[in-house]
Amino acid sequence: MTAPLRSGEPTVVQVALAERAYDIVIGRGLLASLGTRIKALRPGARVALVTDEAVARHHLGAAEASLKAAGIDAARIVVPVGEGSKSYATFETVCEAIIAARIERNDLVVALGGGVIGDLAGFAAASVRRGLDFVQVPTTLLAQVDSSVGGKTGINSRHGKNLVGAFHQPAMVVADTALLDTLPAREFRAGYAEVAKYGLLGDAAFFSWLEKNWQDVFSGGQGSKSSSREHAIAVCCRGKAGIVARDERETGERALLNLGHTFGHALEAACGFSGRLLHGEAVALGMVLAFEFSARKGLIVAADAERARTHLAAVGLPTHIKDIPGGAPGLDELMTLIAQDKKVKRGKLTFILVRGIGQAFIANDVDAADVRAFLSDKLR
Ligand SMILES: NC(=O)c1ccc[n+]([C@@H]2O[C@H](COP(=O)([O-])OP(=O)(O)OC[C@H]3O[C@@H](n4cnc5c(N)ncnc54)[C@H](O)[C@@H]3O)[C@@H](O)[C@H]2O)c1
Ligand SMILES: [Zn+2]
Repeated sequence: MTAPLRSGEPTVVQVALAERAYDIVIGRGLLASLGTRIKALRPGARVALVTDEAVARHHLGAAEASLKAAGIDAARIVVPVGEGSKSYATFETVCEAIIAARIERNDLVVALGGGVIGDLAGFAAASVRRGLDFVQVPTTLLAQVDSSVGGKTGINSRHGKNLVGAFHQPAMVVADTALLDTLPAREFRAGYAEVAKYGLLGDAAFFSWLEKNWQDVFSGGQGSKSSSREHAIAVCCRGKAGIVARDERETGERALLNLGHTFGHALEAACGFSGRLLHGEAVALGMVLAFEFSARKGLIVAADAERARTHLAAVGLPTHIKDIPGGAPGLDELMTLIAQDKKVKRGKLTFILVRGIGQAFIANDVDAADVRAFLSDKLR
């Protein structure tokens, strides 16, 4: 882990993917430079700017002003807020709007929004004219540290989330940390679960840093600690970029990013992917369960699991299954959902477990019966 940078200078994290390499630029106030950055990246390109209604209210004006100042012609495509927009219907609307705006191979699609917009606009970019380049301008913490990096794009099927999509790397990511100031507190907190995830899965020093500095990450504050938020986001992006560069298509190491996600997805699905439990909240619960399950298997001492739980609870994330509003899901339901999420092979499941803080590994021989006994205790 490197020391936090001085505030003011944008941090650039490179994603090393040969001819598809790109930069993630991170800094406060970067939206004002979006136009000049796009002009430098792709001189003469026209832009289709895809966003949702809430982000449009807060930040579309500034994004359009920046493009206009750089002399870039931009069409706007605004979709409804929420996961429901990762649908065939909205995908069609976005693709048709991109085509109607005469966006061609040398032009760009710009995704201005959270993970929903990044996934939707990215998949539309991957599909229209068999692939248009796109730029991610992530506006949620989750999108700045996770969904805008790594090239996974897609929409949901009636059979499950993210089942229709493509790997399509952006040409650039511009993460303006000031955009997070308008994010509802609960959304920021949920995104923070993914920040903590990078420490818990592979960077113990970063986790210790977060334990001391998380309040500055949340406040984005002024003064000497004003770059804590940027630092945290840069560490996460560097962590994910490294993993993606080594395993772009998730044949191995990239699965580590799923720490907390097997338990988490089951809880999220049991809550109907509703506002009852946001993705990051489910991931926080899932990470605590992954640590506690690792402790139960003797892989770590109980104090490590407690340390992970204490930090997530300190920032206000749920850490007990019974914290779920409306009550905990049933054991049978959870086991069915876990089995659906990760194919069961001869009664064995794949989980990301830990040998310590910052030491996650892929365990592909986890006994379904052990998981059941563990969850049964947790639900008691
Ligand atoms: N592609 C990937 O690798 C990847 C990784 C993780 C998650 N995802 C996907 O990301 C999605 C979740 O992303 P998300 O949590 O960003 O959700 P989101 O895009 O729905 O954003 C959350 C909410 O915040 C609002 N919002 C966004 N930016 C704002 C801002 N700056 N100010 C005020 N409000 C703002 C949105 O309108 C929305 O209501 C899921 O669909 C998930 O599947 C993808
Ligand atoms: Zn996640």
